Amino acid sequence: MEKNSSTTKGNDTMDDRALPDDDTVATALALALRAPSRGNMQPWRWQIHPGSIDLYLDRTRSLPVTAGDQRDVLLGCGAALHHLSVAFAALGWATIVHRMPSPGDPDHLAAVAAVARRPTTQDIAMSAAITRRRSDRRHYSDWTAPPGYLGLLTERAAALGALIRPLRDRSGDRQALETRSAAQGWAGEPDHADLLLLATPNNDRLAHLRAGEAMSAVLLTATNIGLATCPLSAPLDSADQRLHLRRDVLDDTAHPQVILRVGQAPDTPDQPQRTPRRSLAEMLSPAHA
Ligand SMILES: Cc1cc2nc3c(=O)[nH]c(=O)nc-3n(C[C@H](O)[C@H](O)[C@H](O)COP(=O)(O)O)c2cc1C
Repeated sequence: MEKNSSTTKGNDTMDDRALPDDDTVATALALALRAPSRGNMQPWRWQIHPGSIDLYLDRTRSLPVTAGDQRDVLLGCGAALHHLSVAFAALGWATIVHRMPSPGDPDHLAAVAAVARRPTTQDIAMSAAITRRRSDRRHYSDWTAPPGYLGLLTERAAALGALIRPLRDRSGDRQALETRSAAQGWAGEPDHADLLLLATPNNDRLAHLRAGEAMSAVLLTATNIGLATCPLSAPLDSADQRLHLRRDVLDDTAHPQVILRVGQAPDTPDQPQRTPRRSLAEMLSPAHA
């Protein structure tokens, strides 16, 4: 069980906080549903309680390839959780996130309460990135990375307990990953994407949830500074590949969770389309819809 406050009001309890009004909650949830998830499965559902919005894993929504290992679905749920906090921040509410709040119910992933707080320019920019972000699977252009971009993304991931290792400097690793990616359909012309490995010190369900939050923070930050992105976990489906990355890239100190392609979108007309989502009503738990 982990409680983690994004505010400094450490003495508050969940009980004495009110949620924002219904319209604000609906707006924030509508933004949260734009979170990326593997295969666009959106493996989460929400329940609205008087003092919190609760996130649950929806076990009926996982891809066959990931069914046995919940890493990817928990990454998606973590992304939805982070998107919700980003959306609330821009709407004037700081969230207090209580992760894995029910020891008897492992699918109860988070309870989110909120306290009023004036949004910053960064809060608004991050929220605006939610609707602009999409997975861009094109070959990225040759580019000069904006100065400090990797440091910024690393910092945002670290704030959520994850680390980032670029794979570009290790030609052997990159080659292995590109070989796998090619099998998934990215073969062909040169691709100038940076491949960033996001990893966490632990490898349990909480670590996967938090990795999803960190992934979301990195993707939205990259979008906000004008970069194209695409999360990739197909290259990590192989236990051998994960082991190889853990040993050779992470020095056995962290666990690979997802690869993020980041770079300069090509100037071509085939812009990635906005992918559909379930409706908000479908994501609310029926008892509370
Ligand atoms: C954990 C995770 C893993 C993903 N892995 C892949 C992948 O291996 N290949 C791929 O093409 N897209 C992958 N995606 C991208 C999803 O397909 C994409 O997020 C989803 O279709 C929704 O589209 P959007 O990101 O444009 O909103 C992944 C996304 C997540 C969150």
